[in-house]
Amino acid sequence: MTPSAGTAPMSDWSLRLTGVSKRFGGVEAAKDVSFQLRKGQLLALLGPSGCGKTTTLRLIAGFEAPDGGSIEIGGRLMAGPGVFVPPERRRIGMVFQEYALFPHLSVAENVSFGLDAPAARRSQRVNEALELVGLRGLHKRMPHELSGGQQQRVALARALAPEPDLVLLDEPFSNLDAGLRLRVRAEVRSILKQANATAVFVTHDQEEAMSLVDQVAVMLDGSVRQVATPRQLYYQPADREVAAFVGDSNFLPGRALGRIVETEIGLVESQVDATGPVEALIRPESVALRPASQESGFRVRNVVFFGHDQLVTVQCQSARTLDARLLPGYQFFPGQPVEVRVVGPVMVYPSEPG
Ligand SMILES: Nc1ncnc2c1ncn2[C@@H]1O[C@H](COP(=O)(O)OP(=O)(O)OP(=O)(O)O)[C@@H](O)[C@H]1O
Ligand SMILES: [Mg+2]
Repeated sequence: MTPSAGTAPMSDWSLRLTGVSKRFGGVEAAKDVSFQLRKGQLLALLGPSGCGKTTTLRLIAGFEAPDGGSIEIGGRLMAGPGVFVPPERRRIGMVFQEYALFPHLSVAENVSFGLDAPAARRSQRVNEALELVGLRGLHKRMPHELSGGQQQRVALARALAPEPDLVLLDEPFSNLDAGLRLRVRAEVRSILKQANATAVFVTHDQEEAMSLVDQVAVMLDGSVRQVATPRQLYYQPADREVAAFVGDSNFLPGRALGRIVETEIGLVESQVDATGPVEALIRPESVALRPASQESGFRVRNVVFFGHDQLVTVQCQSARTLDARLLPGYQFFPGQPVEVRVVGPVMVYPSEPG
């Protein structure tokens, strides 16, 4: 271990993981994980339970040492061959699922807890941080006198007060009920953006990930399978598994020639070139339906009405079904013959053998 490591700037990335791996006994919790973030960018680590999100966050924070690979924060090497900088020297702010405020300390005392500065500077930073999270004037309150959303904002103020190079948030909204959650996450995003903070969020909620951040890293089974903007991720998932994890999917078998794919709903245009047997990914919002005056080969099988939209399942001649997410205006009914059209981006993947 080199105590002076972590001082020499290595790159202009705020955070860079290169080939990071971590094993617990027989479990490979992180496999060759690589991604990077510039100053001010927000990234979500998205994946199902047990895929290695918290492990990755703990590796970044320094609560675990990687078995392989390297981690740079603020351009300084924090973990790598022969180097391990302890958590307290990584200039990281953390927010956890359980807000982890000290119950016996006031809001101001909670926020100033980790601040290593003279008293005057400390109280200035506490004021600035509380101002930033919109809790000015609540200095003296105790945690139990705050709503869940306010507690979460105190936790964020505490993480931001020392002006960290990087903020890590592990499922920060999972304790909040649905309505509050939407509001608090929008607030947290704007607070982080205003502070020009670089941050990594961990979540298993794809909608939360997509609505919050600039980049999403999808993790499955210990591996990062794709890092992309929310839009790219949704419309151009790297593979079938990522596609199926992020949003609802229709997969239709077809035969591709360049960008044209022949399927049982007709010729559809793909965003990418391919040749031969493929599976076409068509998002339900990209399927349009029109009532047919006569037998069309497609019939409505089921309609679920959500108010803001409706999900109409159509049965094709092959008995395969296709979901269409439509505006609620027109009322479809089961058994109704319909015409099917594709009105959004289509991706294709090579057919799985067998
Ligand atoms: N300290 C540990 N000892 C042994 N196994 C561990 C340890 N920490 C994590 N694991 C295992 O590593 C894998 C990844 O765990 P991790 O906590 O990173 O998942 P996660 O993606 O955060 O899941 P969740 O969404 O449920 O929080 C799991 O199989 C877990 O059981
Ligand atoms: Mg976790």
